Amino acid sequence: MLGSKAFEPNRDIDSPNRNIAPITSEINDSEKLLVGGCQLSELAKKYGTPLYVFDELSLRTACKTYISSLKKHYPGDYLPLYASKANSSLAICAIIASEGFGLDAVSEGELLTALKGGVKGENIVFHGNNKSRDELFFAYQNNVTIVLDNNHDIELLKNIASEGKPAKLMLRFTPGIECHTHEYIRTGHLDSKFGFDPDQVESVLQELKMYKWANLTGLHAHIGSQIFEVQPHVDLAGVMADTLKLARKIGHPIADLNLGGGLGIKYVQEDNPPSIDKWVEVISKAVVIACSERNLDLPRLMCEPGRSLVANSCLTIYKIGAKKIVPGIRTYLSVDGGMSDNPRPITYQSLYSSCLVDKPLDSNCEKVTIAGKHCESGDILLKDFSLPSCESGDFLAVFGTGAYNYSMSSNYNRIPRPATVIVGDGCVDLIQRRELPEDLLQLDVLPDRFITNN
Ligand code: LLP
Repeated sequence: MLGSKAFEPNRDIDSPNRNIAPITSEINDSEKLLVGGCQLSELAKKYGTPLYVFDELSLRTACKTYISSLKKHYPGDYLPLYASKANSSLAICAIIASEGFGLDAVSEGELLTALKGGVKGENIVFHGNNKSRDELFFAYQNNVTIVLDNNHDIELLKNIASEGKPAKLMLRFTPGIECHTHEYIRTGHLDSKFGFDPDQVESVLQELKMYKWANLTGLHAHIGSQIFEVQPHVDLAGVMADTLKLARKIGHPIADLNLGGGLGIKYVQEDNPPSIDKWVEVISKAVVIACSERNLDLPRLMCEPGRSLVANSCLTIYKIGAKKIVPGIRTYLSVDGGMSDNPRPITYQSLYSSCLVDKPLDSNCEKVTIAGKHCESGDILLKDFSLPSCESGDFLAVFGTGAYNYSMSSNYNRIPRPATVIVGDGCVDLIQRRELPEDLLQLDVLPDRFITNN
């Protein structure tokens, strides 16, 4: 549970991923919770609930720390990329571009959002294990670097790219590295749907050498997400440096080495992820050592953080509604959102921290289970959680919801998606408007023959 510890003064303000709550969280004289200088209960009343609230300073601080740490620890060139699958919107893309980040996209929708949000095509890499021809064409036209994941990509690109304007490519391979995280979010082990198998890499590198339309400038691997250990990334640097040596020997002018994302964040008090600076230091040193051992010129270092940039910059405010006491078993408090705006608990059994926004420090708690409003028994956001006594109409904040919440949201039960606001210095801006039930009907088509007159 969160308790008052989330607001302890000595939190790691340079590394938002190590704090449950956004770094600007504070309690005012009337003991109400503020973020970015805005009182959360006032935001909830003004914008409605559920409401995602982004703290601009937390997001910018995370970006700045990645950049300053790369500058401090990596002697070569570098370009951090935001893994926009974590949370893709025009405003977030605009912020990360203004902080000097490039971006990783996985679909035409993410590409379009990034480009319209102001990220330059040459600073975008396009991933995916089943890219369509249209998506590849769109990426190629916009000078985006395409990450070759398999032979299907190569076959499609043969008919898209021309010798006059070669496609800029990276090659993704599975490095065969295991890490301890949920099996659904592990990607570096050999039995993965992503990337070329290590045994295929040499022949693909040889094949690409024959194509004038192919300009292979980078190598990519990603080992998983929400990782707290650093050793897997040290091992990854070694594996990638071996492949870099091979690719350069075959004649590819490889300039970029992309080690993917994966740095974990603090969802609950027990979580103790490395700081952004520590993670960057480890991967930087590992690449420098691996390259010097193999006599290789330093590549441009790329990494692709998603969660550690956005998760703890954001929280979700819900309104508490029904209360159900099952005597001797459990007390359920139901909120006005749930698995449609945060599918992570039901998908990965993820844990979260929470508090009442107007009683964040009250320690007179009872054990409750926070249930979502969807027609699904598993729609539980927090199980057996300590919360001060509360009533219907009170507002609850769930922390750490900036990553893989909105981006994985659904309209299950035809529940509209929440709005998102961004706060800073006491000001608030809407960055995603709330969906309305009518929005959900926009895509429906009712053929005339189904219309009855009764
Ligand atoms: N690069 C690639 C190629 C990726 O597949 C991912 C995440 C990232 C970078 C960013 O990883 P991060 O820094 O966010 O750990 N939906 C899951 C997470 C799936 C991660 C998918 N790939 C969740 O909610 O935990």
